[in-house]
Amino acid sequence: MKKFIPVFVVTLAVVLFFNGKKYDELVNSRLSSSIAVCLEGQACGQATAMNVAAVGGARTAESIYTTGCAACHDAGIAGAPMMGNKGQWEARQAKGYEMLVNNAYNGINGMPAKGLCTDCTKEEIGIAVQYMLDTI
Ligand code: HEC
Repeated sequence: MKKFIPVFVVTLAVVLFFNGKKYDELVNSRLSSSIAVCLEGQACGQATAMNVAAVGGARTAESIYTTGCAACHDAGIAGAPMMGNKGQWEARQAKGYEMLVNNAYNGINGMPAKGLCTDCTKEEIGIAVQYMLDTI
């Protein structure tokens, strides 16, 4: 029985170690890794958003908004500026388009980075932001 105690202690230490900060780091590093889209006849890593568009997988501003942003921005969840609400967007617009795109891409307060479109590129977030601005 006695020889099992060190085994138990080591196991516990490993579990605690990986359940703590280290685990968060592992998850974060996986979430933030960029995804390469590889197309037939093309060297991997060279595919761009335009290539994706070429194979018909293009996401439009509307589809990005609907699947990635509407959940919060339609109803103003958690203080999200509502779609089409001029008053709520005007103050934010003063920050400038670039800043709004940066904040939507990187996250700000209750706005999670990239909203629900976790695989969106910065350009795609940009067209979704423009889509929202166009409605006010
Ligand atoms: C989980 C809810 C949620 C989702 C999903 C979401 N947002 Fe937001 N968004 C927020 C909240 C909350 C704020 C207000 C943050 C603040 O300034 O306090 C916000 C603010 C913003 C702003 C203003 C940022 C600023 O600097 O004032 C932009 C632009 C924006 N969102 C774009 C998007 C886009 C584009 C998407 C979809 C790709 C999206 N959001 C998805 C919750 C969300």
